[in-house]
Amino acid sequence: MFVFLFYFLHFRFIVYYLKYRPQTLTDLDNSHVREKIQHLLQSKDIPHALLFVGQKGMGKTSTARIVAKALNCLQNAFAGVGKSYEPCNECENCVAITKGYSPDVIEQDAASNRGIDEVRKLIKEVGFAPMTSKRRIYIIDEAHMITSDAFNALLKTLEEPPEHVVFILATTNEEKLPRTIISRCVRIPFGRAEKKDILHMLARIAKEEKIKLPDEVAELIAQSSDYAFRDAAKLFEELVVQNKLTIDEAKQYIGIHGRKSLLEVMGKEDMQTCMQWIEDFTANGGNVRYEMESMLQSLKNQLLLKSNISTDEKDLGFTQKDIVFLMKELHDALEMLRIAPIPAIPLEIVVAEFYNNANR
Ligand SMILES: Nc1ncnc2c1ncn2[C@@H]1O[C@H](COP(=O)(O)OP(=O)(O)OP(=O)(O)O)[C@@H](O)[C@H]1O
Ligand SMILES: [Mg+2]
Ligand SMILES: [Zn+2]
Repeated sequence: MFVFLFYFLHFRFIVYYLKYRPQTLTDLDNSHVREKIQHLLQSKDIPHALLFVGQKGMGKTSTARIVAKALNCLQNAFAGVGKSYEPCNECENCVAITKGYSPDVIEQDAASNRGIDEVRKLIKEVGFAPMTSKRRIYIIDEAHMITSDAFNALLKTLEEPPEHVVFILATTNEEKLPRTIISRCVRIPFGRAEKKDILHMLARIAKEEKIKLPDEVAELIAQSSDYAFRDAAKLFEELVVQNKLTIDEAKQYIGIHGRKSLLEVMGKEDMQTCMQWIEDFTANGGNVRYEMESMLQSLKNQLLLKSNISTDEKDLGFTQKDIVFLMKELHDALEMLRIAPIPAIPLEIVVAEFYNNANR
């Protein structure tokens, strides 16, 4: 059952945005980030600490990997070959970084490695020479999660790391980073993508997938995804899977499904409104399984939010108990869906149970 669910969550949601993760500087669809990075790489002194600041899904991790590849590529200007600073994406080093097994590119999620001991270990390792490349690159995601004494321990290393080391810190929450850390890094704000950047990405995916995406639909996706790359890629994929690629269909689909999710409605409104939501949703050809999977995904984020892990999610107003209750109900409902003659029923049961459950 869990394996099944896992498979679906991944298979159905993740394809486009992983498949079309940018791999070169040119691929970066947000022009101001692209230009800044290109500029940095071409300058004589590569900064030893970069700080990527921006919302979820804006490309911080993707960009960090591209920078790592550019610096360690065996076939570009950094390796003395040609004039371009782009990674070739073909040499051993590039391939290893793309696949995540380069011994010299260390990705750490600060959410789970935030304490003084982990940081001391890291500082010790920083001194080792790189194994297969010119530089050791530390990508520290969610850097704001590092504890304050761990930050203190890191300060000196960040200020004067060995020649061969580059730190790339990424954060969705700059306010939580100590000023002393920020001031030691070259800061790159990712901001919101511009509409043209999102349109550029959508056009790139549509071309590769050989899908005809009308301009108006692309505009609608850009608007509805709040100008975040990952959300836009997901929404595009959703429209493709649901085959809603004319402007009218897409508008209707996004109108009912996209902006106000069933969970949002459940967080604020009464049971009758929810039942009406489901009614409209199925009448318009909405896919119940898809909706339930997406609800689980959001609940997972809500739970992270309650545990102070993910800070960018909008709080939908559920208590932790509500969240766990709904997760369990949805798991059961997904199971039930396989044999349900009317697909809306398992979802309606979830909603009814939620409102009936007095002690939740
Ligand atoms: N510059 C870009 N141009 C086009 N698509 C992009 C760009 N950056 C990211 N994407 C798309 O968005 C997805 C998410 O990007 P990425 O994981 O780099 O974001 P992130 O900022 O690290 O997000 P998070 O804070 O959630 O870790 C990528 O898989 C890719 O499909
Ligand atoms: Mg990331
Ligand atoms: Zn290369």
